[in-house]
Amino acid sequence: MSTNAVRTNPYIPCPVTIEEVTIENDAKDLKTFKLVLENAEDRFDYLPGQFAEVSVLGMGESPFGIASSPTEEDYLLFTVKRTGSVTAELHNSEIGRRIGVRGPLGNSFPWDRMEGRDIVIVSGGFAFTTLRSAITYMIDPASRSRFGAITVLYGARSPGELMYKETLSSWNKGGEIDLTLTVDREPEEEWDGKVGLVPNVLRDLAPSTENAIALVCGPPIMIRFTIPVLQELGFGPEETVLSLENRMKCGIGKCGRCNVGPKYVCVDGPVFTLAELQRLPPEY
Ligand SMILES: Cc1cc2nc3c(=O)[nH]c(=O)nc-3n(C[C@H](O)[C@H](O)[C@H](O)COP(=O)(O)OP(=O)(O)OC[C@H]3O[C@@H](n4cnc5c(N)ncnc54)[C@H](O)[C@@H]3O)c2cc1C
Ligand code: FES
Repeated sequence: MSTNAVRTNPYIPCPVTIEEVTIENDAKDLKTFKLVLENAEDRFDYLPGQFAEVSVLGMGESPFGIASSPTEEDYLLFTVKRTGSVTAELHNSEIGRRIGVRGPLGNSFPWDRMEGRDIVIVSGGFAFTTLRSAITYMIDPASRSRFGAITVLYGARSPGELMYKETLSSWNKGGEIDLTLTVDREPEEEWDGKVGLVPNVLRDLAPSTENAIALVCGPPIMIRFTIPVLQELGFGPEETVLSLENRMKCGIGKCGRCNVGPKYVCVDGPVFTLAELQRLPPEY
């Protein structure tokens, strides 16, 4: 019988082993963990946009967006920024360490509404994780024909802070995505991307809104300035999709830690359309 920790007991994590660790940025405070489920009978069926709680024995657990795609069947990826106790312990972990994963949790990007449409991805900083999942999923040969053109705008403070750079460039060269990278300030090193903040570069890029839907993930300040630009370009509130990262505890709608008005970000989200958010109190 297959088990899924969420379906049987929502608080019990699946044991996983750290198989690989990749340092993603110059500051070395972003690491991607490749995790493999220990028990073949454990199931972890997810869609891009969902998250999971990753736990370290004796330290606690933290929510992270799932960076791998369901098409990467043999492992899960999480990219983690070192911020406090759980993330520091993860960063100090060696390959082979046994940790836990509880999930998948929350909703996903609106895949049914995205079918047959052009996808515009706008992101800044390390919130790109679930968008890596989304792109990997869409460009998989089995699903590519279900989506139109994929335009990606991704920014960071400096070139060394952009994650998954080589993978993104190879997808761009292969014609699978139309990629624009941007950094906040003119870098000292050689740089053939754009220079400027994500909202400004988005305005210049002016992707077509015709039959398009925009997925936006980034720090709150980027999101605040990006929404008006998307509106200027003509993306309606139903066509603007955002992912929130409110503080969470249980991840399953029990503790009330993450609520915004009547919504629990952990179960009703983390993905919302701008139209849905406009109906909520501005606490997110
Ligand atoms: C749905 C969701 C998806 C997320 N995805 C990712 C991801 O892919 N990669 C990633 O690195 N992080 C992600 N986060 C944020 C991550 O959960 C926190 O950074 C983590 O819980 C910090 O744990 P800690 O024990 O190391 O830090 P703590 O010791 O708990 O706190 C350290 C510092 O981080 C701050 N902090 C804690 N939680 C958050 C939060 N949710 N948002 C902002 N600041 C916080 C605290 O206020 C404190 O200043 C996500 C959060 C949510 C809710
Ligand atoms: S984190 Fe407990 S209700 Fe959402």
